[in-house]
Amino acid sequence: MNKIVLAYSGGLDTSCAVKWLIDKYGYEVICFCAFIGEVSDKKILARRAKAAGASKIYIEDLKEEFARDFIIPALWAHARYEGKYLMATSLGRPLIAKHLVDVAHKEKAKYVAHGCTGKGNDQVRIEVGIRSLDASLKIIAPLREWEFATREEEIEYAHKHNIPISVTQKNVYSLDKNIWGIAIEAGILEDPWVEPPEDAYVMTRPPSEAPARPTHVTIDFEKGVPVRLNGKKMALVPMIEKLNEIAGEYGVGRVDQIENRVVGIKSREIYEAPAGTVLMAAHEELESMIFDREYLHYKRLISERYAELVYYGLWFTTLKEALDAFIARHQDRVTGAIRLKLDKGHVIPSGRKSPNALYSESLATYSTGDTFDRTKAEGFIKLWGLPYEKTVGGKV
Ligand code: ARG
Repeated sequence: MNKIVLAYSGGLDTSCAVKWLIDKYGYEVICFCAFIGEVSDKKILARRAKAAGASKIYIEDLKEEFARDFIIPALWAHARYEGKYLMATSLGRPLIAKHLVDVAHKEKAKYVAHGCTGKGNDQVRIEVGIRSLDASLKIIAPLREWEFATREEEIEYAHKHNIPISVTQKNVYSLDKNIWGIAIEAGILEDPWVEPPEDAYVMTRPPSEAPARPTHVTIDFEKGVPVRLNGKKMALVPMIEKLNEIAGEYGVGRVDQIENRVVGIKSREIYEAPAGTVLMAAHEELESMIFDREYLHYKRLISERYAELVYYGLWFTTLKEALDAFIARHQDRVTGAIRLKLDKGHVIPSGRKSPNALYSESLATYSTGDTFDRTKAEGFIKLWGLPYEKTVGGKV
């Protein structure tokens, strides 16, 4: 019997997929389930997968790896797709692809499967990820192939085959959540004129209902990595989780976006990334204290490009890795502290310090102690503006 490794979430789609892969192709189905957000009950998951017909299930808590190898590079890159989306979902896919390939190798399986729809970006990310790592694996996407046109038909199929599913609360929206944020789409959100109803949001309070008094958070970075929150040493995952709580309370990190999907369509999605929004603002702020103008301006171009590569599913690629190396090159200087004010949906850097700062108060000051030599300004301006003088030929 041919083995297939299925990226399994325990939800309706992948539960039906287990049974469908057995019936349609006669595979032996091995499930692989990764935790990169909330940790579900492993026993329940395993029981469900087995009841659907899986021969075996791998369940792995990958939050640390996700934070270290995916979130940190994206944080350093200041990666926001089309200037807004912090890409929680996009970043999780290559991680899942990598582990799916690992399990397939361990099991000597030649087939892998996933539960992504045929209309989204995630199928692209998972499949390109898999193929970049092992192009010999054959990929099956049940949701692109199967006969079910609606959720109801899937539920009927599940009932008919005694596949355990929980369809207690009918989800109005399609959600995808991990520690870096949540993506929310479908339902009424498909009308781009409709303001997202409050019940669509999961991780944040409405900014208008945030505490009346602002709060401050201080984040210490060492070599680019956030290591202390409000003076307390914390590992990355707990820090992100704690910041999700704090910033979520203040309504920080909401985005409502029309985005350009890889598969050519525009879609409307809302996002929440409370911790990510705070950490990225902090990291950007610290870099602006430390690096010179040319580097900072050039890096903005890299950020844009980097975000595209992540969004497009091109994680395991030469250019993405080269950009990682470029960005990592000077992170050893990114040490210092940033204080930010959280105030009704806003995150406003309000204090910064770094032993590596290029900022110099004595150069910047308008008060006593000024070391800036203003006598040189006149000559500088003359040469700087020379190419644009009418007499030289700078005609516009
Ligand atoms: N549009 C986002 C992306 O491509 C999220 C996709 C998943 N969204 C969801 N609500 N299930 O990264």
